[in-house]
Amino acid sequence: MPTPSEIIDNINRLRKEKNAVILAHYYTWPEVQDLADYVGDSLGLSQEAGKTDAEIIVFCGVHFMAETAAIISPRKRVLIPVRNAGCSLAESVNGYELQQWKEEHPEGTVVSYVNTTAEVKAWTDICCTSANALRVVESLPEKSRILFVPDKNLGAWICKKTGREMELWAGDCCVHQRITAQMILDKAAEYPEADILIHPEASCSADDRILSLPQAYFYSTAGMIAHAKKSAKKQFVVATEMDTIHQLQKDSPKKEFVPVADRIVCGQMKKITLESVWEALEKEQYEVTVPAEVREKAWLPIQRMLEL
Ligand code: 13P
Ligand code: SF4
Repeated sequence: MPTPSEIIDNINRLRKEKNAVILAHYYTWPEVQDLADYVGDSLGLSQEAGKTDAEIIVFCGVHFMAETAAIISPRKRVLIPVRNAGCSLAESVNGYELQQWKEEHPEGTVVSYVNTTAEVKAWTDICCTSANALRVVESLPEKSRILFVPDKNLGAWICKKTGREMELWAGDCCVHQRITAQMILDKAAEYPEADILIHPEASCSADDRILSLPQAYFYSTAGMIAHAKKSAKKQFVVATEMDTIHQLQKDSPKKEFVPVADRIVCGQMKKITLESVWEALEKEQYEVTVPAEVREKAWLPIQRMLEL
């Protein structure tokens, strides 16, 4: 059985030989993040997939993220190390269901969170991520009727922050759904000096008790890292997947990061291991492709988002 350092040596050799780039999300294992050429949130990863000169992108994240990279970079080979790394949010709506919903609201503008399949994006007017959701919604004409898929928590948070009304799909992330208002209030009482960094997918992100906490900030994962770096505070409560703390701590080594609760873990991201990255590079597996006719349609809402 090769040691972790032998596996890393093999990965380093293969990525050079094959002109491959390794992209990883903040929710992957710390050792996978440390190996990556670029670690980011879903917006940053999409932008990076569009910029890279590498021939192969090894995407250490869940399937919709690799699929988005394949839509953005159709001439690159996009590999996901584990074929069945899925996402409960992306699986909560399919293309057929969205098409039916649109038929019920023919005047509606569909805003899709990037945590969706290519098929859903193909029925979408504009995509957003947690980093740019407010900007995307605010860019739409005041009178448009917005159909927001699939995250009801992020959707409700956008409504509260922008004062806009939207029709919300009833999907959620099984990880962030576990983050409750009581957890945040308890941590706020326990750490009165700390800023509280909350992902808007959390089930309490639109709760007025949380929105009115002066020390609560709502961010994508990359936004949390930027906030902690520039803040004068020394302590932060982190209300998202626990391994985001790995990067927070690396970037701000003198500050303290406290998880909002034990074991807020995305089991799907954790399927990506060092061994699976090695195997992906060695065997050039598992390639993620999107049929041309779906890709052409799915690219437009992503392009509109990236242009914003
Ligand atoms: P970010 O956009 O913050 O990376 O979030 C993606 C995600 O899957 C959150 O659960
Ligand atoms: Fe999907 Fe939730 Fe995991 Fe993010 S944390 S990838 S939304 S299941």
